[in-house]
Amino acid sequence: MKRVLEQAGLAALRRIDPETAHGLALKALRAGLGPRGGPVTSARLKCTLAGMSLANPVGLAAGFDKNAEAIGPLSQAGFGFIEVGAATPEPQAGNPRPRLFRLSEDRAAINRFGFNNDGMRAIGARLAAADAQVPLGINLGANKTSPDRAADFAQVMAHLGPHVQFATVNVSSPNTEKLRDLQGPAALAALLDGVMQVRGTTPVFLKIAPDLSAQEIADIAAVARDAKIDAIIATNTTLARDGLHGPHKAETGGLSGQPLFERSTRVLAQLAAQCDIPLIGVGGVGSADQAYAKICAGASAVQLYTALVYGGLSLVADIARGLDRLLAADGFATVAEAVGCKRGDWL
Ligand code: FNR
Repeated sequence: MKRVLEQAGLAALRRIDPETAHGLALKALRAGLGPRGGPVTSARLKCTLAGMSLANPVGLAAGFDKNAEAIGPLSQAGFGFIEVGAATPEPQAGNPRPRLFRLSEDRAAINRFGFNNDGMRAIGARLAAADAQVPLGINLGANKTSPDRAADFAQVMAHLGPHVQFATVNVSSPNTEKLRDLQGPAALAALLDGVMQVRGTTPVFLKIAPDLSAQEIADIAAVARDAKIDAIIATNTTLARDGLHGPHKAETGGLSGQPLFERSTRVLAQLAAQCDIPLIGVGGVGSADQAYAKICAGASAVQLYTALVYGGLSLVADIARGLDRLLAADGFATVAEAVGCKRGDWL
């Protein structure tokens, strides 16, 4: 019955403007209308990621709960960990609406939000009061008009680090002009140095774009290793537009969902071949098979966002339980045993 209601709710939400629909979905979650089973777990699904103990390796990707408003309900939805934000030092409005587009034919979305958020102080107050039942992370961003974007990352890290179990340096959003230039080796090394100096004991993750050459990926892996980054998240949204059908396919912004799956998994496998840093696979995960494929390509854990727009939050428990079955069928006793077992297929 709950599923029927969820599908009916999703169908209704899909008929209205996507950003308005997302706001309503968050409100419904806060009102207690989401799944409430807590993290799915089993001996096989239990794992560790950068020192954190996870009930399962299926996480919520950044951008779904930008302002940390639904941490309690989201941490009951089945996820093994959740990431909120991006948070910038000062509040900012982001780009003009419309700035989020559904490509239903492609099970995808294009967004050009541009780090709209309430700013680190308001978000910090919510993190401090949050009732998180699973490890919680914050996605760090920079203000559009900041004269020193690298310093913004360190500032948000220092302010929010005490409230979270991990923080992610996001230099891979395509929606803030020139942000991705910070992925270049010299700029990235300096930025990460600033963040690491103020992180205290909080693990720091780095999130990268899918639109990088093999050389760029190798350079980033080397910088991340030198900076002692705790995990790399691969990947953010893409600027590529191959093979799309939806009427909004030409909108400016980052593409997420199914069409990103292969591209992001290839980047993941390339990273896995080059470094021992734990990896989190993101991009187009919408089924247990796809979560398992990312793990076999080299991910210690996965995250998802866009598939939730089409499948609802009940998908989270389905994916975690399905993953458990797939691991069992292949004779793995734990997630960790499967990490990277088919990396070569993606290289
Ligand atoms: C995102 N994503 C994102 N990532 C990030 O690091 N910081 C952010 O603020 C956001 N914001 C955001 C908004 C919207 C509307 C979408 C769809 C996505 C990227 C997201 O975390 C993820 O990396 C990609 O969406 C790919 O995963 P999926 O959506 O294909 O599962």
